[in-house]
Amino acid sequence: MATTFLLALSVAQLTTACQREYRDLNIDQDPLNLVPRQDTPFPPVWSENEKILHTSFSTASIDTWSSYYTHGDHMAGRNKSMAEETARKWTENGVSASLAEYEVFLTYPKEQKLVLNRANGEQYEVQLFEDALEEDETTTYPSSRKLPAFHGYSASGEVEAEYVYVGRAHKDDFAALEKRNVDLTGKIALAKYGGPFRGLKVANAEAHGMVGIVMFSDPGDDGPQVAKGQAAYPDGPARHPSSVQRGSVAYIGQYPGDPTTPGYPSKPGVERVKPSNLPKIPSLPISYRDALPLLKALDGHGVSGNGMNRGGWVGGLNASYSTGPAPGATLALTNSMEEKITPIWNVIGIINGTNADETVIIGNHRDAWIVGGAADPNSGSAIMIEMTKAFGELMKTGWKSRRNIVFASWDAEEYALIGSTEWVEEYAPWLSSTALTYLNVDIGVAGPLPGAGATPELRTLAQEIMKQTIYSSSNSNKDETLYDAWYRLNRFRPEDNGFTHLGSGSDYTAFVQMGIGALDFSLDPSSQSSVYHYHSNYDSYHWMKTAVDPHFELHATVGRFLTLMAYRLVDDALIPFDMDTHARNVNYMVRDFVYEVMGQNEVQRAVKISELSAAGRTLRDVARAFQERVSQPRFLEDGGRVAKANRVMRDVQRLFVRKEGLPGRPFYKNALFAPNRDDGYKAQTLPASIEALRDGNLELCKDWNLWVMDAVIKASDMLASV
Ligand SMILES: *[C@@H]1O[C@H](CO)[C@@H](O)[C@H](O)[C@H]1NC(C)=O
Ligand SMILES: *[C@@H]1O[C@H](CO)[C@@H](O)[C@H](O)[C@H]1NC(C)=O
Ligand SMILES: *[C@@H]1O[C@H](CO)[C@@H](O)[C@H](O)[C@H]1NC(C)=O
Ligand SMILES: [Zn+2]
Repeated sequence: MATTFLLALSVAQLTTACQREYRDLNIDQDPLNLVPRQDTPFPPVWSENEKILHTSFSTASIDTWSSYYTHGDHMAGRNKSMAEETARKWTENGVSASLAEYEVFLTYPKEQKLVLNRANGEQYEVQLFEDALEEDETTTYPSSRKLPAFHGYSASGEVEAEYVYVGRAHKDDFAALEKRNVDLTGKIALAKYGGPFRGLKVANAEAHGMVGIVMFSDPGDDGPQVAKGQAAYPDGPARHPSSVQRGSVAYIGQYPGDPTTPGYPSKPGVERVKPSNLPKIPSLPISYRDALPLLKALDGHGVSGNGMNRGGWVGGLNASYSTGPAPGATLALTNSMEEKITPIWNVIGIINGTNADETVIIGNHRDAWIVGGAADPNSGSAIMIEMTKAFGELMKTGWKSRRNIVFASWDAEEYALIGSTEWVEEYAPWLSSTALTYLNVDIGVAGPLPGAGATPELRTLAQEIMKQTIYSSSNSNKDETLYDAWYRLNRFRPEDNGFTHLGSGSDYTAFVQMGIGALDFSLDPSSQSSVYHYHSNYDSYHWMKTAVDPHFELHATVGRFLTLMAYRLVDDALIPFDMDTHARNVNYMVRDFVYEVMGQNEVQRAVKISELSAAGRTLRDVARAFQERVSQPRFLEDGGRVAKANRVMRDVQRLFVRKEGLPGRPFYKNALFAPNRDDGYKAQTLPASIEALRDGNLELCKDWNLWVMDAVIKASDMLASV
């Protein structure tokens, strides 16, 4: 029963991230009433300072900045003036900011071409850019035509071959194709977006001897669809048939950051290595309008879509989704990329705290694949402007931050989380000794649906702050908090309290992997709201204004939430972490591991799972007692003890970082969470233990279980010492 329950809900486990898939959005059906609806008064009760922060947000200003960020080419490394303007505005708002430059390896599109050659000799050339729409001015910009449909870091190459439809190009899709003897070697893959991170799709195709891969957005993964009678953008909520999802194909599950400087910052003159995380076969993304003739040409060849008998194999287009290959039908794919070592610019703004050894970081990336980027990432960028203003307003009253606050506007996130990773690599020792937490906003607003990923110790605070944040939107009744909206629109696993674990896909990754907890917050599209044209020219200011957040109230909602969150984290004498929830989640991770070896007593003994479970139970008891102790009013009167509790809560997170990293991917050091190796976005808990188990390497699995057990015991000792 329990496992079925988990499986049934796993579709709702959206990762909140920039590089993410928007699918499985039919989640507003019969919400499970698992979390009590808000029990606090409305409007929320704020302290004087919180009131200043909550009311300082101006939707007019957000509108102005949303427009600013979405009207010029700001692909990674291409718009220094936008970085300078961001620094200038933050500084004017009272947060002293400057640029942090790195020199990194990037690739830009030079020549992209895709032609279908039918068996009868007819040709069909695919359009590798979106239609320009008069209504949506940035889609008509000449610079929009200079940012064609391409994949960051895709291999240059020219290939012509028969092609095979491979579903979502998941490892399991390829296993199913092999089982049915579909010939893959030397062919080009045609894959649907959705499921695994696009870099993994390329890696899987490459591993099966395929010579290229083409990916398309399938309308069957959308809520509103033309096929369901809905009009397409700009006239309605369905996907525009020419929209294309760009994106990176670097294997960030191996390591993120500059591919030529793994583990160290890309300062001028540093030694560079040959990247080991980039694809060797060329790839291109295409629209569904252009995918249709490609799919149709395969109809009647190979195994039919229904014959594959796999969930999600057949999509929403009028084709049989047959595997092919179709004899004589080929794709000619040209992908020519310009390779460059080139500067990128993070903007770093700092408020020094009175405690120099405690730091909270708030970040958003600034670069986009397209001229727009109104949701990804510049809804976050416009919000960050207002956040610096809110703290500036508070400082004008004489308020001093107890802790350091670092505001970051990252560059080159889209390619491989580069700006944040290089910065974390540069300041690793300082961050390791002072950082308490990292708050991320990437796609701040792409719809009405609150979505949050967070390390467990932050979740209780996040819920509390959601209850203090008014959810304002043109469609909501006005007496709703963010918590109410979150509760109304989501379905939860009770143990998650509505949060996902953080895998990868946005700038929190480098932080989490050095044992710094993080939160990633967004308002996502729902199954009824306008389709999100992720990484397409239609993620534009016009779309945002007409289809999502006309008055930028949702933007303000996200900004207020993050601002109040940051305020409590920097201002509370006792850091508002919940170590009980942290401990509870460690136990859930162990329980999930146990599910995998249910009934296999020998295996359980071999990998020492009952020892790890016992350590987990002790941690749970100790953490609960710790949380009870520190919440006594008298505890707060003892400054020395509070300081000690704060140090302990900061350092407990670091205990789970294993210096040498996970087997085969040393960048990933957090023994509790890493990106799932077959998915790339989703988190895998206890990754090294689980992967070793699945690989049948019980010795390695035991080694990691014992290592985690040791960390759990140390965590218990530290918490008990306060
Ligand atoms: C940089 O972005 C700004 C704001 O969107 C835009 O006005 C400007 O043209 C862009 N610069 C370049 C070099 O594209
Ligand atoms: C679907 O495709 C078939 C075969 O090509 C065609 O006969 C039919 O009209 C199409 N249906 C729609 C709704 O376009
Ligand atoms: C913050 O403190 C550092 C180190 O003392 C100092 O160099 C820097 O100028 C200060 N920055 C601000 C904005 O006050
Ligand atoms: Zn993004």
